[in-house]
Amino acid sequence: MSATVETKRLSPPDIRDRKGGTPLVVLTAYTTPVARLVDPHCDIALVGDSVGMVLHGLPSTLQVTMEMMLLHGQSVARGLSKAMMVIDMPFGAYEEGREQAFRNASRLMSQTGASAVKLEGGEHMAETIHFLTQRGVPVMGHVGLTPQAVNVIGGYRVQGRGNDSGRIRNDAVSVTEAGAFSVVLEKVPDALAKEITKSVDIPTIGIGASADCDGQVLVVDDMLGLFTSFRPKFVKRYAELGLEADRAIAAYAADVRSRSFPAPEHLFGDEAPKK
Ligand code: KIV
Repeated sequence: MSATVETKRLSPPDIRDRKGGTPLVVLTAYTTPVARLVDPHCDIALVGDSVGMVLHGLPSTLQVTMEMMLLHGQSVARGLSKAMMVIDMPFGAYEEGREQAFRNASRLMSQTGASAVKLEGGEHMAETIHFLTQRGVPVMGHVGLTPQAVNVIGGYRVQGRGNDSGRIRNDAVSVTEAGAFSVVLEKVPDALAKEITKSVDIPTIGIGASADCDGQVLVVDDMLGLFTSFRPKFVKRYAELGLEADRAIAAYAADVRSRSFPAPEHLFGDEAPKK
């Protein structure tokens, strides 16, 4: 008889209840193998639309489609047993109005098994967030730097400095009042992120924000150092897998060229091995 370990999957209310508690650990995942690595250590696996830039080599997240999110969401779901899965709504899938948002959010949830969606935008998205949350779609908000608005913002800049702080504070409060169960604060000054965290009653999840947020999120490929050329200030590199992969691939290429791979132990004889 094999012992099965009961692991309870976290739900949006569980995450909401973590306000002010042990910080929430969030990483992105886009595939089954990475989801399997993330699952034992993280509270939330985020199928971020950053998948477009990270895995598909796109110039921004604007080119990411519903089909891409559905495919990556299904892949991630197969690798999770404990962490809660949140999936990003891609650009163009929710901004038209609340009915469009519900149609696409429900598709993302029903076809991937995600427990919640994340969407970008503050005050102007509050009505949509309210509509979704009243209809069975838990929403994670995302304010501060909202990468889908990069062309309006004019770059991936810190948001909410100086006189602009009120706008970001208001955005965080609006998504909270609209019913979001948590909110990502991206590239917001430390002091402002700290103040917002104190003033809203849902967990704030920082990325380039503050250690005082209720949780932190990073793109897993960034923190594993899979990119050798890209090093944003807010990313701490916990490994240098890009350098290690480069070393391994160079060694393989040298072995093939010198005919030292494959070696006898990698080859098959004429006779079947004895049992
Ligand atoms: O798409 C993404 O990966 C994100 C996180 C970095 C917050 O939105």
